[in-house]
Amino acid sequence: MRILLLGSGGREHALAWKIAQSPKVDKLYIAPGNAGTKEVGENVAISVCDFDAIASFVLSNNVAMVVVGPEDPLVKGIYDYFKADARLQNIAVIGPSKAAAELEGSKSFAKDFMQRHSIPTAAYRAFTAAEKESAYRFLEGLKAPYVLKADGLCAGKGVLILPTLEEAKSSLDEMFDGMFGDSSATVVIEEFLDGIECSVFVLTDGRDYVILPEAKDYKRIGEGNTGLNTGGMGSISPVPFATKEWMKKVEERIIRPTVSGLVKDGLLYKGFIFFGLINVEGEPMVIEYNVRMGDPETESVMLRLKSDIVELFEKVDSGSLAGTAVEFDERSAVCVMLVSGGYPEHYDKGFEITGFENVNESILFHAGTAEKDGRVVTAGGRVIAAVSYGADRAEALEKSFRAAKSIDFEKKYFRGDIGFDL
Ligand code: AMP
Ligand code: GLY
Repeated sequence: MRILLLGSGGREHALAWKIAQSPKVDKLYIAPGNAGTKEVGENVAISVCDFDAIASFVLSNNVAMVVVGPEDPLVKGIYDYFKADARLQNIAVIGPSKAAAELEGSKSFAKDFMQRHSIPTAAYRAFTAAEKESAYRFLEGLKAPYVLKADGLCAGKGVLILPTLEEAKSSLDEMFDGMFGDSSATVVIEEFLDGIECSVFVLTDGRDYVILPEAKDYKRIGEGNTGLNTGGMGSISPVPFATKEWMKKVEERIIRPTVSGLVKDGLLYKGFIFFGLINVEGEPMVIEYNVRMGDPETESVMLRLKSDIVELFEKVDSGSLAGTAVEFDERSAVCVMLVSGGYPEHYDKGFEITGFENVNESILFHAGTAEKDGRVVTAGGRVIAAVSYGADRAEALEKSFRAAKSIDFEKKYFRGDIGFDL
């Protein structure tokens, strides 16, 4: 089978690495890909939201399956675009329909969905600028700290956590004044939940589901979880507090009602669901849904998934996931992200990356890299993920930190404390 994977980050290199291992794959294309994905497939210079170009590429190259990495094309309706065209409708698209992608595209849609289906989440209300006075009153009734979320997509930047009521009110004003453009025309205000986060992933065919290995990511730039939020500085899998018992609660209270909620609401969904959970005194609650895999969680999750992912995708497409067993690798997997100095604020690109030949105990998934005159150069904030297996987390981390030191580029930075809090 010929497969087209959309995206260009570390998540996509990890997915491409896993897809390429399937005996079912004759040819893997990645659009647009990066300097790493071209080692496991063929990069195609098409951007992920150019549906017309994607469609004509798929038709002229006999592609039978499109796997969507990032949220943008999903929220913009790539699934519906394919299903609405007689020439494309038999091509498998791994991802939710546009209506279902609102679980990530709109925080208020997601919160209403959770409330409607009794899925545990923080108390909340959504407000528009015209309702500012009621929003103030709602804030006054909550305890500090205060959580404000831009309703729409913000590339992971639309959540503010404010320590005082005064700061919460003034940030709310700024959000209504366009701090996140149209995305913050509606703001969700919610109760603060105190606990440790865990990312749980499933693949659903719209009726049944399989659970993939869970992971924990490290979002802050600084060691000890300090400083600005980033796209993710590292991840580990498994997560020690995600015991069988805890995962049973997650499945019964969160996963099952979510998938049956999709059915009840008539939301077509054939793809990954990412449950951003928080463990509050032993009880799992939902912080957010994403309609794709996580980055950098995928980089460790793919190492721990033993089953053939393409076989799972085929079952997702044909609606035959029921009763499928997913095999996990019992080893630990970790990811340490090497980033450009200055990230997540200003940083420079184009620095040559060296030292690949010194890494032999880890896998390197490229995130922001490009090829220039035969050399690999930095091309983004998050540059390369050093990913390793270990008998336990400590052993895996030791390998990844060694790899992180072996790879070199100007202003390289990584967090040396991934996994420190567990
Ligand atoms: P989100 O974009 O919804 O994942 O939010 C970004 C981050 O903000 C989350 O990963 C959490 O660390 C934090 N966060 C979001 N909502 C809450 C909440 N209700 N209570 C505590 N922390 C939260
Ligand atoms: N690692 C969090 C995300 O992918 O949104």
